[in-house]
Order: sequence, then C-alpha cells, then structure tokens
Amino acid sequence: MSDTVRIKQIIDEAYDTKTFVFDWDAEVRPGQFIMIWIPGTDEIPMSVSGISDTTKSITVKAIGDATKRLHEYKVGDRLTIRGPYGNGFDLKSRNILIIGGGVGTAAIMPAVVETGADTIIAARSDRDLIMLDTARKHAANLWIATDDGSAGFHGNAVQLMNEKLKEKSYDYVISCGPEVMLYFMFKACQDADQDCQLSLERYMKCGAGVCGCCVMDDKRICKDGPVFTRDQIAQLTEFGVSRRDACGRVVKFR
Ligand SMILES: Cc1cc2nc3c(=O)[nH]c(=O)nc-3n(C[C@H](O)[C@H](O)[C@H](O)COP(=O)(O)OP(=O)(O)OC[C@H]3O[C@@H](n4cnc5c(N)ncnc54)[C@H](O)[C@@H]3O)c2cc1C
Ligand code: FES
Repeated sequence: MSDTVRIKQIIDEAYDTKTFVFDWDAEVRPGQFIMIWIPGTDEIPMSVSGISDTTKSITVKAIGDATKRLHEYKVGDRLTIRGPYGNGFDLKSRNILIIGGGVGTAAIMPAVVETGADTIIAARSDRDLIMLDTARKHAANLWIATDDGSAGFHGNAVQLMNEKLKEKSYDYVISCGPEVMLYFMFKACQDADQDCQLSLERYMKCGAGVCGCCVMDDKRICKDGPVFTRDQIAQLTEFGVSRRDACGRVVKFR
C-alpha cells in the first residue's frame, strides 16, 4: 500500500544533500526505510532520517536521475511512498556507539535521537558532513572524523572507532555507511570482540522481500535486514566482495 504525503520543510544539509520533512503519522522504527516513487524516473529506497509522531523525513544525496529529480521538489509538493520496510536497529541497550559514514548518517540519526548515545559522524571532508545540528542536540558525545582532516579527527570512521573502543566499552556499535567502511568496521569489531549491528545496502526494486534483487547469500537485505548482527554478517560471503546491479549481474568490489 502506498501513501501520498506533502513536503512541509526542506533543509540544505550539504552542497549535494537535502532533508525533506513531510507529514506522515505511520509508526517507524530507527533504521527502517521507505520506497519513494519519482514519476517517470524510478522508485528508490531511502532511510527514514527523522521520526516524530506526525512527521518523518528522508535525507537525499543527489547522485543520479532519481535523486537529482527529488532535489527539484519544493515545499508543498507531494511524494508517493511505500513502507516502512526492514527490521531497524535493536536499541534495547543505551550503552552504544553510533557511527554514520557519509549519507549513511541519515539512517543512524533516529537512533541517535532515541538513545542520546555517543556518536561518530564521518565524511570525506567538512563539506560532506551532514546532520551535525541534530547530533549535537541529542548525542551524549559527538566526535567527527574527516578523511582529509578538514574537521575533527584526521582519518576514517573505523580508525576513530578503534580509538574510542580503547577508552570505553560499549554493548554494541551501530553503523550505516559505504560498504567499504562497514567491511573494515566489521573486521575491526571481530578483532576487538565487539558486538555490532550494521545496516547494509543492496540494489532494491520491491523493498518488500518479493523480487529477490537485493539478495546477499541466503538473505534478502530489504526484508531480513537491512540491519544485521556481527554473527549474521560473518555468514555473508558476498559482503564486501560483490553486489548485483539493476539487471541482476554480479559486480565485484575486489
Ligand atoms: C535500504 C537503503 C536505504 C538508503 N537510504 C538512503 C538515504 O537515506 N539517502 C540517500 O541519499 N541514499 C540512500 N540510499 C541509496 C539510494 O537509494 C540510491 O543512491 C538511489 O537509488 C540512487 O538513485 P539515482 O537514480 O539517483 O541514481 P542512479 O544513477 O540510478 O544510481 C546510482 C547508484 O545508486 C545505487 N542505486 C540505484 N538505484 C537503486 C535502488 N533501487 N536500490 C539501491 N541502490 C540503488 C546503485 O549503486 C547505483 O549504481 C539507500 C539505499 C538503500 C538500499
Ligand atoms: S528488493 Fe525485492 S526482495 Fe529485496
């Protein structure tokens, strides 16, 4: 079933990223996503980046046809959406370290708001950092990492995570970001015997477990995930190795 919602606010997060806030009273858990229909272009998955009883938001990085078209939408325009889909994060413990990499920060932000947990936001440079105001407002501690050192820690999210895990013990690390970042985060968590929940990404068409596009080994990322535990990821031989494109062809990362 789909809903039509009206955009009530648009926030510029960075030169290529905007947050769209819309009225929607559906129940959504941190880490879930929705499918957005962009007429004449595509239907694409987007994490829910903000959750209140009556409004929700998505935070969109313009990279291709559908996301660039979304960036042309104005306050008052309507969006056709389906969902929410996916399992979301398990937030029973509040003693967690939450890490967002690049536009993956959108997916972890509702968990930051709900838990007020320690948070790392990482990006290539200061101009790619997003949602810092919300994180500053809610996180107990906020640390920033940039690859080029233009803001905060000079290095990547995994390097800063390793520093923080030496200073304090956490029940879980929760993260979403590019697969290469999640791959090395997973390896570092294994080495440190640190539990984690990572939100994975694959090409999605239905978002609801039907088409099989998003399959990784025996799991469907849209329905069994997108959030997986360390033990579950250890069974996924395709994680960090290959993905499928829009036609189902295997594309190797390395
Ligand atoms: C569960 C999930 C949550 C996501 N959350 C966000 C988010 O919060 N913010 C954000 O900016 N992006 C998010 N994305 C990525 C976003 O869906 C893609 O960047 C978008 O679909 C690109 O579409 P396009 O037409 O602009 O670009 P295209 O030029 O069509 O594609 C660019 C690249 O985006 C990826 N992509 C394209 N279509 C899809 C699709 N249907 N499913 C998955 N990947 C696709 C492919 O890797 C492709 O190579 C999410 C993806 C998933 C799977
Ligand atoms: S996107 Fe169709 S099964 Fe996951």
